[in-house]
Amino acid sequence: MEEKKVALITGATRGIGKEIAFELALNNYSIAINYRNYSKELETLKSDIEAIGSKCGLVQGDVSSFNECKNMVEDTIEAFGKIDVLVNNAGITKDGLIMRMKEEDFTSVIDINLVGTFNMTRNTISYMLKQKSGRIINISSVVGVAGNAGQTNYAASKAGIIGFTKSLAKEVASRNILVNAIAPGFIATDMTNVLSDNVKEEIFKQIPLKRMGTPKEIAKVVKFLCSDDSSYITGQVIHVDGGMVM
Ligand SMILES: NC(=O)c1ccc[n+]([C@@H]2O[C@H](COP(=O)([O-])OP(=O)(O)OC[C@H]3O[C@@H](n4cnc5c(N)ncnc54)[C@H](OP(=O)(O)O)[C@@H]3O)[C@@H](O)[C@H]2O)c1
Repeated sequence: MEEKKVALITGATRGIGKEIAFELALNNYSIAINYRNYSKELETLKSDIEAIGSKCGLVQGDVSSFNECKNMVEDTIEAFGKIDVLVNNAGITKDGLIMRMKEEDFTSVIDINLVGTFNMTRNTISYMLKQKSGRIINISSVVGVAGNAGQTNYAASKAGIIGFTKSLAKEVASRNILVNAIAPGFIATDMTNVLSDNVKEEIFKQIPLKRMGTPKEIAKVVKFLCSDDSSYITGQVIHVDGGMVM
């Protein structure tokens, strides 16, 4: 029987990350789920993934801490022996116009979204370099491409992820490690549930497909980017946004 591949997914307790974990489990991956705070729901999530027939490990840590990322990666290696796929998904927003944005609102978004992506990648890459294979998928945003008023912090973090992705793709291509980013548009999760109906209506006007995307629609693209079907794709930003940004 073919050995299962191992995927480590950050921020996989809910939303897009959780759906990515399920999608990869359905596709025969062993899953390491990163979480920040322990909750009973985590055990349910773990047993739901095990019910699919995949192994599931829970690795605790805040992605903005380099040392906690080091521990998460080491715990995953200890549990599963390797990491084939890293999905840097954990992210936050702290929106506000620049005149009202506190320094902490800017730095915390950069620290989690962008520095977190570096922290996880830096600690994982040596294992991938040694095994001469790997896939890294970074979750950016259309806001990192097109910008958005009230999100200077978030846009800077997500644009940074795009530059990071392209540079790393060039650095590690010779070792058969493929690095890509996904730029989701407006996806139905806790992150967007907080928006008022008026704001949602305004956003819909900018989406040719006239609806929000689902976490599943992002997870399916992650699955593709992990698969042999995407073996000639690296350094790319795949928009999954209903045509919002072209
Ligand atoms: N939803 C959208 O419309 C949309 C659009 C474009 C891009 N994205 C990006 O997609 C990713 C997932 O978004 P989502 O909508 O699924 O968000 P979500 O529902 O708010 O979930 C965010 C996840 O990230 C985790 N997280 C946050 N800070 C963390 C930290 N410091 N360390 C570890 N985990 C942390 C959260 O864990 P806790 O439960 O502990 O908070 C949660 O599991 C994010 O990078 C987001 O920027 C989302």
